[in-house]
Amino acid sequence: MYVCLCTGATNQTVCEAVARGASTSREVAAACGAGRDCGRCRRTLRAIIAAASRRDTAPSH
Ligand code: FES
Repeated sequence: MYVCLCTGATNQTVCEAVARGASTSREVAAACGAGRDCGRCRRTLRAIIAAASRRDTAPSH
């Protein structure tokens, strides 16, 4: 699914940027370009970051 229409970044692209350490929409933009242009997708970027960080901190058992 496209998250950022300006750069053509998909949720997969954004997830990879988050997995590599991006923890803000600004860092995602630096890592993969998503959110760098019009900014309309930043809310979605933050939702993806929040979902990813919840997964990281969730207990595994
Ligand atoms: S839709 Fe992502 S910067 Fe425009």
